[in-house]
Amino acid sequence: MEIFTTKKNLTEYLEQLRKAGKKIGFVPTLGALHQGHLSLLAQSQQYCDVSICSIFVNPTQFNDPKDLEKYPRPIASDIEKLEQAGCDILFNPEVNEMYAANEQWHLDIGELEHLLEGKFRPGHYQGVTQVVFKLFDIVKPDMAFFGQKDYQQFLVIQKMVELLHLPVKLVMCPILREPDGLAMSSRNIHLSVEERRHALVLSKTLNWLKQHFNKSNIASLTNASEVMINAEPGVQLEYFEVVDGDSLHSADQQTKSIVALVAVKVGNTRLIDNIILVD
Ligand code: PAJ
Repeated sequence: MEIFTTKKNLTEYLEQLRKAGKKIGFVPTLGALHQGHLSLLAQSQQYCDVSICSIFVNPTQFNDPKDLEKYPRPIASDIEKLEQAGCDILFNPEVNEMYAANEQWHLDIGELEHLLEGKFRPGHYQGVTQVVFKLFDIVKPDMAFFGQKDYQQFLVIQKMVELLHLPVKLVMCPILREPDGLAMSSRNIHLSVEERRHALVLSKTLNWLKQHFNKSNIASLTNASEVMINAEPGVQLEYFEVVDGDSLHSADQQTKSIVALVAVKVGNTRLIDNIILVD
């Protein structure tokens, strides 16, 4: 695997590949890689000639400085995982390589900015679009792979690609879970054994909802789901919403694609999960 830490060296290398007609697939990450990340890489390898992964803990998307500080950064084992998975290129820049001092960014992404995650993580999606725009500009991928795990993030990036007419095809990949149902996340390592057990209420509730779902009683099913989560000790519910999969507005009987999205705090660890109810 080729490893680059500067934009200049990476750009020059990629330029050669592009000239040779190679199709470039891109998987941006914050690192602390798990099977979920590697499943995006596998999709990229399936569709593209060359796959590049980035590991960059982007400071501008962390609204909580403590979260940024304690974000895991196991770079040596990440490199090993990528090597084993057959990744072609890793881009692993320092903060000052990505950001000039006092850089400003604002992209009008409309309501997506303030709904759901936006409400609980003010400024988060400005930081995400800022860094993903920069990464796309450097890598110029033909295709980029993102997880359904961060459902709203996918919609936000899709909106940016539309607004700025970026020439990249986005692919949403399914959520990878631990055998007991917990959605894989770099933040799971912060959970104690007990907290981890309580965190299973997320996938259990989402699966229960999917099994019982019908469009005629969305309100009572949402309510029952909230009750299940609130009954779990040590779990603090931020939101549980059943929404239109495109607009993220509340779903009703007329809504075509429907997704349930949830966010909680288990101790100090914030977890999100979701399930597609109607495609
Ligand atoms: P990160 O949280 O590291 O996630 C990188 C990618 O992996 C995202 O597209 C995310 O949705 C996907 N992912 C995470 N957990 C997953 C799982 N259990 N199954 C499948 N895919 C999963 O998302 C970010 O980083 C950042 O915001 C980033 C886009 C890199 C911008 O900084």
